[in-house]
Amino acid sequence: MRMRKKKNGKARMENCLDYMITEKPYEKTGFMLEIGCGKGGFMFELSKKYPETEFIAVEKMSDVILIAAEKIKKEECKNVKLLNCDAMDLPEYFSEGSVDRIYLNFSDPWPKAKHAKRRLTSPKYLEIYKKLLKKDGAVFFKTDNRDFFDYSVECFKNGGFRLEKLTNDLHNSEYESENIHTEYEDNFSSKGFKINRVEAYLD
Ligand SMILES: C[S@@+](CC[C@H](N)C(=O)[O-])C[C@H]1O[C@@H](n2cnc3c(N)ncnc32)[C@H](O)[C@@H]1O
Repeated sequence: MRMRKKKNGKARMENCLDYMITEKPYEKTGFMLEIGCGKGGFMFELSKKYPETEFIAVEKMSDVILIAAEKIKKEECKNVKLLNCDAMDLPEYFSEGSVDRIYLNFSDPWPKAKHAKRRLTSPKYLEIYKKLLKKDGAVFFKTDNRDFFDYSVECFKNGGFRLEKLTNDLHNSEYESENIHTEYEDNFSSKGFKINRVEAYLD
C-alpha cells in the first residue's frame, strides 16, 4: 500500500501508544492476528462483531498503521492492539502456539516468480504461522488475484494444512453472509474481480 508520509506522524503515533504493542516478547496468548491490516477497516468491524475476542493487527508500514491506530483509538476498540512490524519478525513477539487464527486479506501478490518468497503465503511464512498457531489454529485467506490464490492453496496443502470453505466467488457464495469486507476487497470487487477465499487448518 502506497501512502504519503504523514504530517506529525511520530507525535500522532505516540498519542495512540495505549493501542500499540511495544514490548518484546508480548506475554499474552489466545488471540487472533491480522497480518497486513492496512488502514484497519476489517479489524474494526471484526472487533465490534466479537467483543470478547482479543485481536492484534499487524502492518509493516508505519504511515499506514497510523491510520488504523487512530481509528481503533477513536472508536475505543478495547479488544484490539496494533503491531508495527514485518510478518517475518512475529516470532520475536509471540510465543509458539499463542495465536488462535491468522487473517491474511488481500496480501500483496508479488506476481513475478523472482519475488515469490515475499508472498505472505510462501513456505517460509507458512512455517512461521505453523509455529505461532495453536494446535487446531487456522489461516483465513482471501484475495482477488486468482494466480496468487492457486499458488497459496498449493503452499497450504504442501505445508500440511487442511483446507475448508474454498470458494472462487466469495460474494456469490454461501459464506458471504459472514464475510466482513476490507478496503481492497470493495475496490477490487467494484472493478468486477471475483474474490477467492479459503480457511487453512492445522490439525
Ligand atoms: C494490498 S494491502 C491490503 C490491506 C488490507 N488488508 C485490505 O484488504 O484492505 C497489503 C498490506 O499488507 C502490508 N504488508 C505487506 N507485506 C507485509 C509484511 N511482510 N508484514 C506486514 N505487513 C505487510 C502492506 O504494507 C499493505 O498495507
